[in-house]
Amino acid sequence: MDKNKIIEQTAEFARKNLANESTGHDWWHTYRVWKMSLRIANEEKDADLFVVQLATLLHDIADWKFNKGDEFVGSKLAREWLEKLQLDENIISHVCEIIKEVSFMGEAEKSKIKTKEGMIVQDADRLDALGAIGIARAFAFGGHRGNPIYDPSIKPVKNKTAEQYKQMDEPSINHFYEKLLLLKDLMNTKTGKKIAEGRHKTMEKFLEDFFKEWEVEG
Ligand code: ADP
Ligand code: NI
Repeated sequence: MDKNKIIEQTAEFARKNLANESTGHDWWHTYRVWKMSLRIANEEKDADLFVVQLATLLHDIADWKFNKGDEFVGSKLAREWLEKLQLDENIISHVCEIIKEVSFMGEAEKSKIKTKEGMIVQDADRLDALGAIGIARAFAFGGHRGNPIYDPSIKPVKNKTAEQYKQMDEPSINHFYEKLLLLKDLMNTKTGKKIAEGRHKTMEKFLEDFFKEWEVEG
C-alpha cells in the first residue's frame, strides 16, 4: 500500500477513535498536532515524515489518564493498527516508542524521547497545550475532572513526580505553573521553541489579567 493511502487511513482511524472526546483530546487536537508536526518537520529537515505523521495521528488514540493509569495502552492499540497494515517492524516500533514517550509526566521526570521524529512529535503536541488553545484546553480538562478554576489556598507544587502529577486534582490555574509555563524551555527543536515563545507570552498576559480581575482590579 502506498504511504499516502496509509496516512489517510490512519487519519480516518484516529478521527473515528477520537470522536465525542470532550477533554481537549478530541480529533481536532490530533489534527492540529499533525499539521504542526509537518510545519516543524519542513523547517527542521531530514525527518522521516511517514513516521512523524503516523506517530502524531496515533499519539492520543488511548490515554493512561482514562485507562486506569496504564501508560502503555496507547502504544498497544497503535501497534495493533499498524500490524494490521502490515508495516515494517522497525517503523512500527519507532512509532510506538514515540507514542509511549511523548507525554509530559511531571516536572521531576526526564523525557526519554531520542529520535528527531520523536522530538518533532513531542514539540507539536506540547505547542497545542500552549497559547490561546492551551488555555481553552486546560479549563476544558479541569472542568471535565471537576477541578476548580482557581483556589488561592491551594498553591502549585514545584517539581512534581509522575505519581503526584497523575493525581490531576489541582485547580486548573495551578496547571500553568506545574506544566504549561515550563514547556517553552523544554522544546526540542528551534522551530518549536520559536513558536512556544509567542504562545508563552499569550499565557503570561492571560494570567496577569486573570489575577487582576480576581482582585477586582482589572
Ligand atoms: P497532550 O495531549 O498534549 O499530551 P495531556 O494529555 O497531558 O496533553 O493533556 C491534555 C490537555 O489537558 C492539555 O492541554 C493539558 O495541558 C491539559 N491538562 C492536563 N492535565 C491537566 C490538569 N491537571 N489540569 C488542567 N489541564 C490539564
Ligand atoms: Ni496530545
